[in-house]
Parts: sequence; C-alpha cells; structure tokens
Amino acid sequence: MKMIKTGLIALVCLALVGCSSQPTKKDEGTTSSVKKIGVIQLTEHTSLNMIYDSFVEELNSLGYGDDKAVIDFKNAQNEMSNIPTIVQYFDANKQDVVVTITTPVAQGAMSLTKNTPIVFAAVTDPIAANVVKDLEKPEGNITGTSDMVQIDEIIDLALTIKPEIKTIGFIYNPSETNSVSNFEKLKEVCAERNIKIETASISTSIDLQTATSALLPKVDAIFVPNDNTVAEAMPTLAKLAKEAKIPVFTGADSMVMDGGFATIGIDYVALGKKTAQMVVQVLEGTPINEIPVYVFSDDLFITVNENTMNELGITLPEEILNNPKLVLVK
Ligand code: TRP
Repeated sequence: MKMIKTGLIALVCLALVGCSSQPTKKDEGTTSSVKKIGVIQLTEHTSLNMIYDSFVEELNSLGYGDDKAVIDFKNAQNEMSNIPTIVQYFDANKQDVVVTITTPVAQGAMSLTKNTPIVFAAVTDPIAANVVKDLEKPEGNITGTSDMVQIDEIIDLALTIKPEIKTIGFIYNPSETNSVSNFEKLKEVCAERNIKIETASISTSIDLQTATSALLPKVDAIFVPNDNTVAEAMPTLAKLAKEAKIPVFTGADSMVMDGGFATIGIDYVALGKKTAQMVVQVLEGTPINEIPVYVFSDDLFITVNENTMNELGITLPEEILNNPKLVLVK
C-alpha cells in the first residue's frame, strides 16, 4: 500500500517539477512555492501507519494538499542501514522539512541532516534518545511529538484486572532506545509493587516467536512496551499468549488491535495530527527552537480486545467497565 502511495507521490512530484520553484498564483508576492516534505517511517506496523495517515489527513485539512505540498514517503523497512541512505537522498533533494516516524529514525536523521528542519513523530523519550536536550526549547534543528508510555498506569490496570500477578514477562529489542527507557521505568514500577520481571530480548521480529515461547511458562502476564520490533510481529505474540492463557498488556492501542489484551495510553491519531500542525508551523516560518516538543501524556484511553478477553476467559471488573475512557476493540 505504501509502495503505491510512494509511486503516486513520485508521479505528482514529476508533474510538479516544472513549476516547483515558481510562486503559484495564490502565493503571488510571497516567496513560497510548492513545499517539499520528506517522510521517513521506520517500518510498517499498525500504529506507524495510523500516525502517517492522520498526519497526511491533517496536512490536507490545514490547506497543504497536493497543490501546496509534495510528500516524498520513504519506508526504511526496519533496516538501520537504510536510514542514512534515505537521509542523504533528502539532503541531496533539499526538503523544506523532514518528518521522522519513530525513535531510531529520528536518531539516524540527526547525525546527517544539516540545515533541513526535522519534525519527529512518536519518539517515546526524546531526551534519553539524545534527540533534544531541552523539551521546552529544542536547541538543534529538530522538534516533534513524544508518546511517553504510562507504565505505572498500565501495571495498575493489569493488577486491577488480575490482582494475583506476581511475575511479569517483558519482551523488547535492546537496540531501541525507546524500549530501554521503558524498561528502566518498568523496573521502578514493579519494585514498588513487589512484582518480579522476567526479560526476553529480541533483535528482529523473527525472534519473537522463540522468545515468547520461552517466556510464557515463567510468567503470570506479559508487558510489551511500544517497541517497533515487537509491534511488527504482534499477532504472533498474541496468538501464543492466548494459547497459554496469559494476558498481554501493551504500550500502545495498536498492539491491542493486533490481538494483545489491554492497555491504557494515548490517542495516536491525535499525535499524527499534532505532528502535522508542527510541520505547518515550520513551513510558515516559525524557527524550530520556538516550537517545544509536545509530549502526549494525558487524555488516556483504556483499550481492551474483546476477542482476546473472551479467549482468556477474563471478565472486566465493574470499575473498568464503567470507565468512560474504555474502548473495546475486536
Ligand atoms: N514510540 C515508538 C518509538 O519511539 C514508535 C511507536 C509509535 C510505536 N507507536 C508505536 C512502537 C506502537 C510500537 C507500537 O520508536
């Protein structure tokens, strides 16, 4: 699907090349012309696709449709070595702004892009990732949106639903800074609640099946953060956990949509929109250091997968069923 989009965008690009440096009628008297937006998305998984789609929709509704902005979309296929290649391509084909989706892409884009402003989407911990030093006043040519994970709330949700949890399994890719920073938080939260953690690390999504099978017999529940490598193969994890009757709590709603059991977290559609609004600010001349990083940390939703719940034989406690922020998915 993304290939087709890229192809279409490339066509639009070609069609516009001839006039891209000419001010359009609407812009008469200003220096603006059709803007170039380069997008780098780490890989394809439900959440990243949701973010990108709502980003494009919001750009359109803010008046940056095909006549005012050309989006060049690149998917790095979760291959780190692809990131510098794409960034160099964007450096050579100068973009007005580069949008990076995920932590690894934001980190990869930083070291290479010089004068091009970068707006990142969904960087869980921009400070730990070394993307900015000050969220309020980004000092480099980079700002964006952050999807901090509310680990304490997720673990408390797990304990409300299954109070007998003593050991939690944690699966992550240690090369994702976003997951390392969630692991640090998880250790604190579990220590305070007297819960033991069993860890399994993976380096590609192919490893997920073996890691999950090894972990399941040792735990009462699994928690996976918003780790891109896990998210790519979420249906595999969900299936094995359902068979073993172990609930999987996740760091993102998309992972519940992909078969996980439950989470409490942010609205990624809103995050995609906010990222688009920041891009428009940049295109309209606001310097990056005047655009603080926007951290999504409130307005949280509880997402529960009903099919998974039934397969696990779990019933939700009244206090969760009556929560107006409960969203049931299938
Ligand atoms: N926050 C992740 C990162 O920093 C990206 C991400 C967004 C994600 N939504 C997700 C990862 C859902 C897994 C699942 O890279």
